[in-house]
Amino acid sequence: MPVIAICSGKGGVGKTTVAANLSVMLSKFGKTLVIDCDIALPNLHTFFGIEDPLVSLLDALRDVNYLEDSIYRIRAKNVGKLDVIPASTSVKALEEIDMEKLKEIIESLKHDYDFIILDVAAGLSKYAMIPMLSSDKICIVINPEKTAISDAHKVRKIADISDIAVRGIIVNRYKGEKKMIDYAEKAIGAETIGIIRESKLITECWKEGVPVTIKKPDSKVSKDFLLLAKKIVGSKVEVKPYGKLRYILGW
Ligand SMILES: Nc1ncnc2c1ncn2[C@@H]1O[C@H](COP(=O)(O)OP(=O)(O)O)[C@@H](O)[C@H]1O
Ligand SMILES: [Mg+2]
Repeated sequence: MPVIAICSGKGGVGKTTVAANLSVMLSKFGKTLVIDCDIALPNLHTFFGIEDPLVSLLDALRDVNYLEDSIYRIRAKNVGKLDVIPASTSVKALEEIDMEKLKEIIESLKHDYDFIILDVAAGLSKYAMIPMLSSDKICIVINPEKTAISDAHKVRKIADISDIAVRGIIVNRYKGEKKMIDYAEKAIGAETIGIIRESKLITECWKEGVPVTIKKPDSKVSKDFLLLAKKIVGSKVEVKPYGKLRYILGW
């Protein structure tokens, strides 16, 4: 299975939310690893209730002997085999990091996992580009609005120039904007592989340090993530925009 990077042009569209919850759902299909590659502004650990990671990706990038200790195993009800490599919250730890080592680290982990998901920084800085170039395919997360779509279009263009394969678009915070999905597919030139609805459960669960897919696996928003995971593993599922959502709150 390929290494999949979760990217976006615009910030704050929900990459970390998608990376965390997609990984939980993928872990039901095979051993999964999710890596916080947003080393400048990391927050994947907060989704899994890991406070301040003692050993992190930054230690592994500095000295590969720390790699084993940087892997946190999430073992809970409603999760398969899921491991997380968080990044460090310490600004000091960012100094003298050789991000180029990321590709080697990912290569060395590939044989241990069925799925590897990379949570990537927004935009096209080197912090975003190196993880994208270390992946086999990228998924571009958007919100159904024009600025997120036009920024995603730029990511698509750079991906094409850099020979990075685009697996598809993930529409997050969907509230029934069907037409925006058609527009996004045409503007970005990729298919929609997931539609994740707006749900207050996402933030509620995040505040508790548990992904919604673990805390409320039967909620509608968790089922959106399951459908996305199925699409990624290659099941024949149809991802179709549905009409106006009647209830925005309460899932
Ligand atoms: N589907 C959703 N419904 C409601 N809130 C969401 C949803 N997805 C993300 N959010 C909220 O949006 C904010 C940004 O999400 P995050 O995943 O950190 O974005 P990014 O990683 O792209 O910066 C968070 O407060 C998160 O709880
Ligand atoms: Mg993020």
